[in-house]
This record gives sequence, C-alpha cells and structure tokens, in this order.
Amino acid sequence: MKRTTPMLVAGVVAGSLAVASALAQDSSGGTNQWVAPARAAARKNPVAANETSIALGKNVYERHCLSCHGPKGKGDGPAAAHLEKPTGSLADSKLWEQSDGALCWKITEGHTPMPTFKLVTSDEERWPLVNYVRTFAPKPATPNQPKAEKPKEKEKP
Ligand code: HEC
Repeated sequence: MKRTTPMLVAGVVAGSLAVASALAQDSSGGTNQWVAPARAAARKNPVAANETSIALGKNVYERHCLSCHGPKGKGDGPAAAHLEKPTGSLADSKLWEQSDGALCWKITEGHTPMPTFKLVTSDEERWPLVNYVRTFAPKPATPNQPKAEKPKEKEKP
C-alpha cells in the first residue's frame, strides 16, 4: 500500500517550528508508517563510523535496545514477544534508505511501543548508536543500479 502522508508536506511548512517533529510523530500514529521529519533526516552524522564510536554504540545498544531489537537487530530480543507491535528488523538493508539523521531522530523520539530515549541518552551516545546499528545491515552494494527493463513484447494479432 502506497500512501504519501500529507503530514510530510505540513512538516516542511512548519519546518521552523520546534513542534514540527512532535506533529510528524503524531501523524503516523495508527499507521505503519513512521517517517522522520525532513529537517531531522537532513542532519549529518558528526561522528565517524570507526572502531571507537561503534564500540561505544554497542555498549549503549546492549543497555537500552537489545531487550527488544535483539543481539543482531533482528527484533528477537527477550522483550520483543510482549510488544504490541513488532520492532521490524534493523538488519535489513532497507534501513540504508534512511539517513543517519532520520535514524538518530527515531532513536531520540521513539514510537510506541518503542520508548523515547531523549532523557536516557545524549547526542554523544545516539550518533555512535546509529553507527553501531548500521553494522547489522549490509550496505547495498549498488544502490543506484538501474533496474533492467524487459523489452515489451508486442502482441501479435
Ligand atoms: C520496548 C522495545 C524497544 C526498545 C527498548 C527499543 N526499540 Fe526500537 N523499535 C521498537 C519498535 C516496536 C519499533 C517499531 C516502531 C514503529 O514502527 O512504529 C522500533 C523501531 C526502531 C527503529 C526504526 C526502524 C525503521 O525501520 O525505521 C530504530 C532505528 C530503532 N527502533 C532503534 C532502537 C535503538 C537504537 C534502541 C535503543 C536506544 C531501541 N530502538 C530501543 C521497539 C523498541
């Protein structure tokens, strides 16, 4: 099912308002779509994905995220079975369709039943967390590869 969310447009209009992210979050409640606001998604990750930041991210992940998302991000943590909604997989290369900024925003805000991590983590932890989460899913090798189109066969009368 493809639906463009009108809130995305409203979010851009309200871009300068601090409430934009809150609105965008509310708009997705009740649907399966959870989309970070454009402004948050455009934020660049200031932390390089190196051994140090990934190790820090792993540490935070094991404390705060593993219980639901599981040791490899597959959504099979010990608490996952009790959730009202599956976590989805962080080990899916589809995750690369989202920017680091978008993931950082999601980790910050949460989305019921995922709690917000605004108060228990800082930006200094969340960016490394994004770097660690990225290690679960292989980056698609050729993301811009055009799909091979089959030449249309004309039906003969
Ligand atoms: C209580 C269980 C729970 C905990 C703890 C939790 N999550 Fe989640 N997480 C979820 C659920 C459920 C979703 C799906 C929410 C939705 O789509 O509405 C989700 C979604 C996500 C997404 C979005 C995935 C996507 O495809 O867009 C990311 C990224 C994420 N979690 C990362 C984390 C990180 C990092 C932590 C630790 C700081 C964490 N989560 C802690 C349950 C949890």
